[in-house]
Amino acid sequence: MSMTNNEQIEFGSILSSSFEALIDVRYEKSKKIIIVDENTHDNCLEYLLTSFDQLKDAEVMLLPAGEENKVMEVCFQVWNALSEYQIGRKDLIINLGGGLVTDMGGFMASVYKRGVDFMHIPTSLLGMVDASIGGKTGIDLGPFKNQLGTFSQAQKIYIDPIFLATLPEAELWNGYAEMLKHALIADPDHWKGLISISSPDELINLSLIQKSAEIKMSFVNQDPFEKGSRKLLNFGHTIGHAIEGFSLEKDQPIAHGHAVAIGLLLESELSFRGGHLSEANFQAIQQSIKKVFPLVSIDSDAELDELLSIMYNDKKNSEGKILGILIHKIGQCTYDYEFEEEEVRRVLKTLCN
Ligand SMILES: NC(=O)c1ccc[n+]([C@@H]2O[C@H](COP(=O)([O-])OP(=O)(O)OC[C@H]3O[C@@H](n4cnc5c(N)ncnc54)[C@H](O)[C@@H]3O)[C@@H](O)[C@H]2O)c1
Repeated sequence: MSMTNNEQIEFGSILSSSFEALIDVRYEKSKKIIIVDENTHDNCLEYLLTSFDQLKDAEVMLLPAGEENKVMEVCFQVWNALSEYQIGRKDLIINLGGGLVTDMGGFMASVYKRGVDFMHIPTSLLGMVDASIGGKTGIDLGPFKNQLGTFSQAQKIYIDPIFLATLPEAELWNGYAEMLKHALIADPDHWKGLISISSPDELINLSLIQKSAEIKMSFVNQDPFEKGSRKLLNFGHTIGHAIEGFSLEKDQPIAHGHAVAIGLLLESELSFRGGHLSEANFQAIQQSIKKVFPLVSIDSDAELDELLSIMYNDKKNSEGKILGILIHKIGQCTYDYEFEEEEVRRVLKTLCN
């Protein structure tokens, strides 16, 4: 695997990026495949095709939208189509979409003929600040998210906020939660910029997006295989993933970003109660998260037990321990902290009716 490097990602209009020169020169003779889902097909593809005449003969492959389609069955269809079009190792796959398309498209490209070059053009906010960056590709297997996958780097990632114009508001908030996480683990100034927004449209802002993407990239560069500091990117996810899974089982699913935001709040509360985070910082975090993301509710002790058991099953936790991130102040965290079950129960009680 080649390491992520800073030239791999370009920010700003794709029209003035290296994209055109690359497809003109390095990929001049390559067949081009563009992978989209139903929504990016309708909202983003035309802009790309009309902007770059070189893509007029590209084959477009359409994935069904939605996480439930991030599965092997769909991959088989695409791999069969790639074989049918005689796509070879010198050809190019362009993934145009949110995290579903970049995770799946990257995965399919990385194993087809042991690897075909691919590029990501993320079109969701979450994709721009998180999913398209870092070289993790993957698909789900049954109830297990991203159970199958590879570490495989895109040749290029083009981050152009123009695609966000059609992204639904709820999806902007989804990306916002991960941006808040980036700020909390690494950058108090970024935090100030993020919490001062008053409408989701203000998130369609290249400098905020670039700041977040660079934070993600810097953690990936330091630790590409998540042996150490990259774990900080899991802040909010120990509790957030459990809440996401729990809400699914309860048939009242909430969005990933929403669950992560609640996770950020409760994991900050754990740090505060443990004496690691000041009350002023905790109140600031609480206020900013509650302003945008409503809490979910837990109705009984049985439900509380269920949430904990989901947490113990999480692949981030091992040997019956609940491992998480401690926040010391806004912009500074440490990883591999073992939370006491009683303390976790105590903060989860905040959610009880
Ligand atoms: N590889 C990683 O490091 C990493 C990190 C975080 C998340 N992920 C993965 O990313 C996925 C979530 O990403 P996501 O939130 O982008 O999901 P997504 O790709 O499903 O996109 C969310 C919704 O927005 C639509 N959409 C995307 N761009 C649009 C646009 N410009 N206009 C209109 N609609 C648009 C999609 O069709 C979809 O309905 C999950 O599968 C998650 O596992 C991966």
